[in-house]
Amino acid sequence: MSRKIVAAGNWKMNKDPFEAISFLKEMGPLVKGKDEDVDVIFCVPFIDILPAIDSVKGTNIKIGAQNMYFEENGAYTGEVSPGMLKSAGVTHVIIGHSERREYFSESDITVNKKVKKAIEHKLTPIICCGETLEQREQGITIDFIRQQIKIAFLEVSKDDAKDTIIAYEPIWAIGTGKTATTEQAEEVCGAIRKTIEELYDTDTAQAIRILYGGSCNEKNAKELFAQEDIDGGLVGGASLKKEFAQIVEAGQ
Ligand code: 13P
Repeated sequence: MSRKIVAAGNWKMNKDPFEAISFLKEMGPLVKGKDEDVDVIFCVPFIDILPAIDSVKGTNIKIGAQNMYFEENGAYTGEVSPGMLKSAGVTHVIIGHSERREYFSESDITVNKKVKKAIEHKLTPIICCGETLEQREQGITIDFIRQQIKIAFLEVSKDDAKDTIIAYEPIWAIGTGKTATTEQAEEVCGAIRKTIEELYDTDTAQAIRILYGGSCNEKNAKELFAQEDIDGGLVGGASLKKEFAQIVEAGQ
């Protein structure tokens, strides 16, 4: 089965609204046409969302968020609800990034709550998983990732599951310039697909898109995306630069 490649940028806490506008206006022509073959998504800081959506009008670039809360509204100072994202025109939302797990105490349980809420609001969750270097060295990577995936998908139906996106991001490869080898990345992405097959069925496992993230750049993207179980990338640092257009091209 051929799955459409996803080139998703995660800007993290970078680019103010003015920088977002000028960058995206420049990016539009660079990915023109390519954004029909590849799903191009920029997950931007909340404050950049509206100007970003305005700046990509007339292109196929989609704008995503980097987080959301799992309640509809109410006394949750500082949080943003899925309904707010949806009404702004957001299509995708990153859930459970390792930085949120590490610095903001997110757990597999909150990840699951957010995944279900995103789906309810017809936002596509980009569900992150990934092991630490210590876990890799202990040889428990696959067990650990399987557990993250199983909890993230609790009470998610088969039909909903197949439209979600999973991002495998080994923590030791994030922002370090140390990419996982294609073999390491493919091994874990294959294990994730197998886990989805066990939870649901072969059709669901074949439909779901699994991305690699962790020092993915314009030099290594083509080889990574050519792997059987890798359907694109979740890109941090390299999504802040024009070279991101080459990552999109690598997915064609
Ligand atoms: P880098 O591409 O900067 O390593 O970040 C990866 C990441 O965390 C994307 O979500």
